[in-house]
Amino acid sequence: MNRRMLIVVCAVFLGLNLTVGIVAAQQGGNDAQINAALQAAYTKYKDIKEGKNADYIPALAKVDSNIYGIALVTTDGKVYTAGDIKSEVSIQSISKVFTMAKVIEEQGLAAIENRIGVDPTGMRFNSIVAVEFAQKLLGGPEINPLVNPGAITATSMVSGANRDAIWKSLLRFYSDFAGRSLGVNQEVFKSESDTNQRNQAIGYLMYAYEFIKSDPMRATDIYTEQCSVSVNAKDLAIMAGTLANGGKNPITHNQVMKPENVPGVLAVMSIAGLYDDSGKWLYHTGLPAKSGVGGGIIAVCPGKFGIAVISPPLDAAGNSIRAQKAISDISNALGGNPYKANPR
Ligand code: DON
Repeated sequence: MNRRMLIVVCAVFLGLNLTVGIVAAQQGGNDAQINAALQAAYTKYKDIKEGKNADYIPALAKVDSNIYGIALVTTDGKVYTAGDIKSEVSIQSISKVFTMAKVIEEQGLAAIENRIGVDPTGMRFNSIVAVEFAQKLLGGPEINPLVNPGAITATSMVSGANRDAIWKSLLRFYSDFAGRSLGVNQEVFKSESDTNQRNQAIGYLMYAYEFIKSDPMRATDIYTEQCSVSVNAKDLAIMAGTLANGGKNPITHNQVMKPENVPGVLAVMSIAGLYDDSGKWLYHTGLPAKSGVGGGIIAVCPGKFGIAVISPPLDAAGNSIRAQKAISDISNALGGNPYKANPR
């Protein structure tokens, strides 16, 4: 090989490596780095015994506390997993993200801001005081669609001729995010329907204050069914990956929601996704996220990846303990914090 050829070969080699490096950085790491981060988090937290399953919904207390699955989906459609990604849990409050997204798709970003609000309450997810406080002291829609009063209101805003039509359209939307037809865990739906008197009270209160403008019991019932949708860690990661990819499912390539509507959804996840611990979460990870009392958490690294962990034991705020620790470790290992910039 003469000198000129050698220079050309070296340049091509360097160029290829640079391209691979740039793509890896855009994804938040290369295959080996991502797999290593998932495996490390899985192993590190597999045996911890803190927290306990939610039990105010009786069916959730019976779910196997050892379920522990991690999945990460990059915006270019690669799926990485560790642990149990077959077992399904009920989506619970993570559903609130996708109902909010549905309302925004149907009525625009202003509809959520004007009717419900996009501010944190600083109170528990099913707080009635939060509604009273906003109404009496703040004077209007100063809560958000990720706490129960705002979430039941958001569900009441989904369009459809009757209950069946509303439900079908909502479930179709969730399924498009997941890239497969999702179903309902009927045992959880019945269990929560039998014990959701507090949510019924919240529904009536939101109706009394005219946030909900249709039958509040129909909204509460659909909300309860949406919380009972059954998902595994991979489903949740694809749903998060779709948000990370500007509303386009990175596996099916279906544009599920408009790219311009995604930042509003992520903003509300950032301020209220982990309830009264949302600030603490954002401080450590910088990631918009959402938890559910079924044990799942999703987090979104815009333009790079969506990640989900399922593990039922929760902390006092109602967030999965293993999921918080694992997502935090993995994202930090992959440079996932969107607030972090390298000085030029
Ligand atoms: O309305 C409820 O209480 C449940 N269906 C959902 C609550 C929930 O997931 C809060 N999560 N941290």
